[in-house]
Amino acid sequence: MPLVGIGDITRHAPAGVGAFNVILLEHAEAIVAGAEAADTPVVLQISENAVRYHGALAPIAVASLAVARAAAVPVAVHLDHATDRALVEEAVTLGLGSVMFDASALDDEANVAATADVVAWCHERGVWVEAELGEVGGKDGVHAPGARTKPHEAADYVARTGVDALAVAVGSSHAMTTKDAVLDLDLIAELHAAVPVPLVLHGSSGVPDDTLRAAVRHGMKKINIATHLNKAFTEAVRGHLDTHPSVVDSRAYVRVGRDAVAREVTHLLNVLS
Ligand code: G3H
Ligand code: ZN
Repeated sequence: MPLVGIGDITRHAPAGVGAFNVILLEHAEAIVAGAEAADTPVVLQISENAVRYHGALAPIAVASLAVARAAAVPVAVHLDHATDRALVEEAVTLGLGSVMFDASALDDEANVAATADVVAWCHERGVWVEAELGEVGGKDGVHAPGARTKPHEAADYVARTGVDALAVAVGSSHAMTTKDAVLDLDLIAELHAAVPVPLVLHGSSGVPDDTLRAAVRHGMKKINIATHLNKAFTEAVRGHLDTHPSVVDSRAYVRVGRDAVAREVTHLLNVLS
């Protein structure tokens, strides 16, 4: 199955599309294994934070692309939360078919200008662009579900920037380790009616499964999940190390984490489909 563009996945998905963050090679392997078990397309995404962790984009991007090309289901590889234009250009050069350019920390006019510029550059190269309006909180680790994207501003933003998908603030917050986020489902429906491109839910780790299903029914399309997978990975590794205190070979416990992530991805893709 070839590496595909995220646009192909979102266009053909009957319901929600799972987009999961890759930090280590094992995340990419686990996400693809979980998607294969669910027989569902999936998005691997690499954030600017993950790039910072590795010190460069290329090693983790090239590894993710290789895992995607070998998958038995369609897989897209996407750059997530890039605030740096140079990183966007590097991602495209490496072969990523889509990027999120996150100018949401800027004021709205500056956000529009910077994003429109990135969109023009990417569209010349056939690359799909996601952007964000109405900052989804929690990127600094502080739970902040308060922001809301206004439908008329979202429609205006999409028209002025030409983005292919829009991340909106509807009650979720990044990096939650409990599943008790409350989403504004009426607002999701209003945004879906107002905006002609797919809507993206960030900070989905804190959203209960039933609410994820409802969010998709109300018009959310791309569902971004990172922290929940890290939690599954770390809990599994911790459990293994606790019960095998003399283990030395890192493959013995990393494999357990990888398997746990794969199981969660299968479960979540079934929730979203
Ligand atoms: O862009 C990535 C997502 O918004 C992940 O958020 O770690 O809260 O699931 P999360
Ligand atoms: Zn996010």
